[in-house]
Amino acid sequence: MNSALNNDISKVLLSGEEIEKRVKEIAAEITRDYSGESVLMVGILRGAVVFFSELVKRVDLDVRFDFMVVSSYGAGTDSSGELRIIKDLSQPIENMNVVIVEDIIDTGYTLKNLKRMLETRNPKSLKIAALLDKPSRRKVEIEGDYVGFKVPNEFVVGYGLDYNEKYRNLPDICILKPGVYS
Ligand code: PRP
Repeated sequence: MNSALNNDISKVLLSGEEIEKRVKEIAAEITRDYSGESVLMVGILRGAVVFFSELVKRVDLDVRFDFMVVSSYGAGTDSSGELRIIKDLSQPIENMNVVIVEDIIDTGYTLKNLKRMLETRNPKSLKIAALLDKPSRRKVEIEGDYVGFKVPNEFVVGYGLDYNEKYRNLPDICILKPGVYS
């Protein structure tokens, strides 16, 4: 755990070990699905950073990296439905196999809008790898092609996920104590 942040956590939902095991499985699936092909893995900053780095090093293919910064969150804990592109890809993706790497699918607005936008750039294929999926919060229809874990409607932090920019460095996915954010 993390002694500086421990008091804000009500429980560990997914341990670093459990996550590592699942990440290995997803990497193996991606390796199998794109056998003989090259893949551009697109990490969505900042939440996906930890998942991205654990995933890519286990994908046994010709992998390139790119990153985007997008935002669909307002000031609170709810998505607004509007996608803002703060940092775009640094290269065209035409005829490339693209895998978007995200930390969580919540309302689905971010990935729905992002996928629609990237599809207009004519990639060879476009898939989504998301570590977490919170289906009970979904507002628009979108599915991850590779999903680590379905999680309940609790405020989860750690392994890249934040609350007010804190807790991203926790090695486990943890549930935040309600008193911290209410
Ligand atoms: C989070 C998360 C996804 C999005 C999911 O990003 O990383 O991008 O929200 O929510 P949605 O399905 O309701 O659209 P956030 O804007 O908090 O930025 P971060 O990655 O920097 O934490």
